[in-house]
Amino acid sequence: MNINKVAWQLLETHSETAKSFHLKDLFADDPDRFDKFSLQFEDILFDYSKNLVTDEVMTGLFNLAHEVDVEGWRTRMFSGGRINLTEDRPVLHVALRNMSGDPIHVDGADVMDQVSSELDKMKSLTENVRSGKWRGYSGKRITDVVNIGIGGSNLGPQMVTEALRKYSDNKVSVHYVSNVDSFQIAQILRPLNPEQVLFVISSKTFTTRETLTNAATARNWLLASSFDETAVDRHFIAVTANRANALEFGIPEGNIHDLWDWVGGRFSLWSAIGLPIALNLGFDNFEKLLGGAYAMDQHFLNAPLEKNAPVIQALIGIWNSSFLGMQTQAILPYNQSLHMFSAYMQQADMESNGKSVDWDGNDVPYSTGSIIWGQLGINGQHAFYQYLHQGKNIIPADFIGAVESSTTVKGHHEYLMANFIAQTQALMNGIDKEQVRDELRAKGKSESYIDNLVSHKVHQGNRPTNTILLKRIDPHSLGALIALYEHKIFVQGIIWRVCSFDQWGVELGKELANHILPQLETGTPIKTQDSSTMGLINFYKNKITQ
Ligand code: F6P
Repeated sequence: MNINKVAWQLLETHSETAKSFHLKDLFADDPDRFDKFSLQFEDILFDYSKNLVTDEVMTGLFNLAHEVDVEGWRTRMFSGGRINLTEDRPVLHVALRNMSGDPIHVDGADVMDQVSSELDKMKSLTENVRSGKWRGYSGKRITDVVNIGIGGSNLGPQMVTEALRKYSDNKVSVHYVSNVDSFQIAQILRPLNPEQVLFVISSKTFTTRETLTNAATARNWLLASSFDETAVDRHFIAVTANRANALEFGIPEGNIHDLWDWVGGRFSLWSAIGLPIALNLGFDNFEKLLGGAYAMDQHFLNAPLEKNAPVIQALIGIWNSSFLGMQTQAILPYNQSLHMFSAYMQQADMESNGKSVDWDGNDVPYSTGSIIWGQLGINGQHAFYQYLHQGKNIIPADFIGAVESSTTVKGHHEYLMANFIAQTQALMNGIDKEQVRDELRAKGKSESYIDNLVSHKVHQGNRPTNTILLKRIDPHSLGALIALYEHKIFVQGIIWRVCSFDQWGVELGKELANHILPQLETGTPIKTQDSSTMGLINFYKNKITQ
């Protein structure tokens, strides 16, 4: 157990003292605090100075990282060690963007051979579709790509294509279907011409019911137009680690793009799962995305822990969560293009570290895996920031912004960024009773008015934030940003000793749904479930027949 480590125990002692810190004082006491507690990677500034840490705390956190051998685990991941313990697999999303030319071996074979031949195949498909060489069954060019997939087979590509919309030449539009609620696929397909649509069926397992149901509907939609089964060859691509199931579905061998069991779904956008990105933005932009992630991988791999952005981000998160008892973590991007970033990171982080037993199957006695949530910061300011500033629970937040605007329209970006910076300052400093009184007096308010209002206007401050400020959002910097978070998640999993690369917790609900499905479909009332489940099923069945 890591709580038996010397560093963990010392940090627990520090955490008692930290309860009396106020960020305002930490800044007042140390004019160099920003320089000390921020770092720059390429054009990305990572400012973690507005956290409840001191030199002593940071030293303690680094000692913890050393003591649990983060460096050793990091080497194991990059060299193909089977660190996905419960599934006995390597964890090699870093191989998908390995531009070093060095091999990475799994069971004696260099996986880089597979990676580069799959990249070549993606490139050729991308170029053929975008140039119009690839034609639909009636000879028309492809204008729309519909990606059908869910979770990691949806969120990554969708988040990235949204974030990099500015870089799309719109030769091919992309659409995403994830929900098995037919309303989504119906809405997306209705305006499209089946002769010009390419479906990408993305499923690592090719067993996910939501995806296969949507894929079957898509095929029916196509065949209703083509009246010819062979049209599937021109309109369906599969991305999967399960070729057999894709073939059985009817997708021809040459249209199947490979994924491997050593790529976790939530870390798979760098693989052929990223096809919609390449189709929409062009392969060169996809390569730039990989290049950004590779650059962050190199930083993570080579920088000392004390200067290592993902390590520091992970340690700050551990400090807030396991030592200071803050269980949630908001992710608040300010750029419109990053509007799906929090949703993407929610899966990446919560599916990875939302675990309560350690590597040996023992209950962990500390809190693990933060509750990740968030949305565009500027919209949040007019929604939930009230709670961030004055709520009872303290919610650490990552603020993400870019120096350059994505457009040249004047008068917007400065205002956006003024808010971006002001919010972290407000969360840090707050405003006390005396300041509130002075402000209200300056506005000419009466003393009785002030007495009534003063406590309502006090902001305690002392709310921790990280600020991640990019020069601009482009394929390279976005790749680096995503990889930053991926490695943060990895380091936290090592320190918490949880199995970050499995997801057993998603299985039970799926299995129960398979039992409930026939019960919804039979005509007779159900008598064999607990009273609530039975009540829900029978209510549904009654209403559907009325
Ligand atoms: O939600 C569970 C999960 O297995 C995710 O980990 C994964 O990203 C998603 O389902 C989709 O799985 P697949 O790509 O196999 O369809």
